[in-house]
Amino acid sequence: MEQRELGRSGLRVSAVGIGGATFGREIDEATAFAVLDRALERGITLIDTAEAYSAGESEAIIGRWLAERRARGQVTLATKVSGALTAEWVRASCEASLRRLRVDSVDLFQVHRFDPEVPLLETLSALDELVRAGKTRAIGCSNYAAWQLARALWIQDVHGLARFEATQPVYNLADRRIEQELRPLCADQAIGMITYSPLGAGFLTGKYRQGGELPRGTRFDVVPAHQAIYFTTARFRVMEGLRAIAADVGRPMAHLALAWVVGQPGLSSVLIGARTPAHVDQGIAATEGLSPDLRAALDGLE
Ligand SMILES: NC(=O)c1ccc[n+]([C@@H]2O[C@H](COP(=O)([O-])OP(=O)(O)OC[C@H]3O[C@@H](n4cnc5c(N)ncnc54)[C@H](OP(=O)(O)O)[C@@H]3O)[C@@H](O)[C@H]2O)c1
Repeated sequence: MEQRELGRSGLRVSAVGIGGATFGREIDEATAFAVLDRALERGITLIDTAEAYSAGESEAIIGRWLAERRARGQVTLATKVSGALTAEWVRASCEASLRRLRVDSVDLFQVHRFDPEVPLLETLSALDELVRAGKTRAIGCSNYAAWQLARALWIQDVHGLARFEATQPVYNLADRRIEQELRPLCADQAIGMITYSPLGAGFLTGKYRQGGELPRGTRFDVVPAHQAIYFTTARFRVMEGLRAIAADVGRPMAHLALAWVVGQPGLSSVLIGARTPAHVDQGIAATEGLSPDLRAALDGLE
């Protein structure tokens, strides 16, 4: 598995990372351990979680796994803070995450989304303190628009604060917004990009049909909010186009959708979500790449 630089942080991350959003939600602890074991075995070193995932249970499961496997030294560990990003909450949330993860520090501490209510300087100063205190090696942001990241970088520069070394946006065949502004900004400023939901949270695997029944127990059944995001006519059109191409070349839709993201320029890592160890294998198979013709056909889906 290729290891890549994350911004200018000095951290290295695997080209495919494993996300912990399903831990303690769709899958129990034993299955999560099996997924993490398989990921590490296959060279995935980036593990991403958040305090928000299953109200801290994802972090707690990862913490128990790290302790049991004595794996802390082998992984790059990332988590996130959400809610109102006051200085007090950023500090408290980080301490709570460290406790659940059973570590003294993480590698990447990220804000989960932009908070328009709390002055950005307050949040960024608190994050800077965490870096100085050795609670995290680097800081990042998630779900920021390009202008929000540019504004944060500007404030960090002017005030001599630790800068965001990474950003975590959604990126898949059905959601390509980052190509317009965010990816060029990150390339220009050498900010690492860790993208999430390469399969559109499962949408691009072809299991949902427009107007059809939801398969029980799948992500869109467990987290119905995903339906409002992906169940649009335009996104179903992309997904059905992918289905046709996959049938034509005789490859699984998930494989093509993943390979399309993994081969994109400028990304540090692509976070996959897994319900089983086999999903991890499929994510790794996607690093084999696509022929130029196949990539062009997928690029043309809209
Ligand atoms: N920063 C953020 O706001 C944010 C938001 C979302 C995710 N993330 C991060 O990114 C990680 C990955 O996101 P994601 O889970 O949405 O990624 P994803 O890879 O797009 O979706 C994963 C889901 O797709 C389905 N799936 C995976 N492989 C499959 C296969 N081969 N065949 C059929 N179905 C398959 C499974 O769900 P079903 O079996 O239930 O269909 C699986 O849970 C998360 O764990 C989290 O760390 C971050």
